[in-house]
Amino acid sequence: MQGYQRQGLGRRLVAAVAQELVRRDLCSMLVWVLVDNPACGFYEALGGRRLRSRPITIGPATLEEVAYGWPDLRAVRFADWP
Ligand SMILES: CC(C)(COP(=O)(O)OP(=O)(O)OC[C@H]1O[C@@H](n2cnc3c(N)ncnc32)[C@H](O)[C@@H]1OP(=O)(O)O)[C@@H](O)C(=O)NCCC(=O)NCCS
Repeated sequence: MQGYQRQGLGRRLVAAVAQELVRRDLCSMLVWVLVDNPACGFYEALGGRRLRSRPITIGPATLEEVAYGWPDLRAVRFADWP
């Protein structure tokens, strides 16, 4: 819901997931996002790097999705995230 966006909830959610992955010794993370999704800017703001892309078929449409990656979550400074 739009009224709840841009209040830091997404950042806190992704940080909690990433920190839990590190706690479990899973030290990298990849998130697939449709290339036209405005959320791409969100993952870029959190330091995600575009690593790869691939086509995805949804119903009759073939779209493009991109992967944002954090190769080493142990090096991420979560306190610096916007
Ligand atoms: C994308 C989404 C998860 C982001 O969560 P959020 O709680 O709105 O984002 P945050 O407030 O934590 O944003 C942190 C920072 O990320 C960046 N950011 C967030 N949304 C952005 C957007 N749409 N475009 C560009 N940058 C964005 C900003 O730098 C923001 O800091 P600022 O508000 O101080 O400028 C959320 O808006 C959402 O669920 N959107 C609709 C569904 C969707 O597209 N989900 C993703 C599918 S992969």
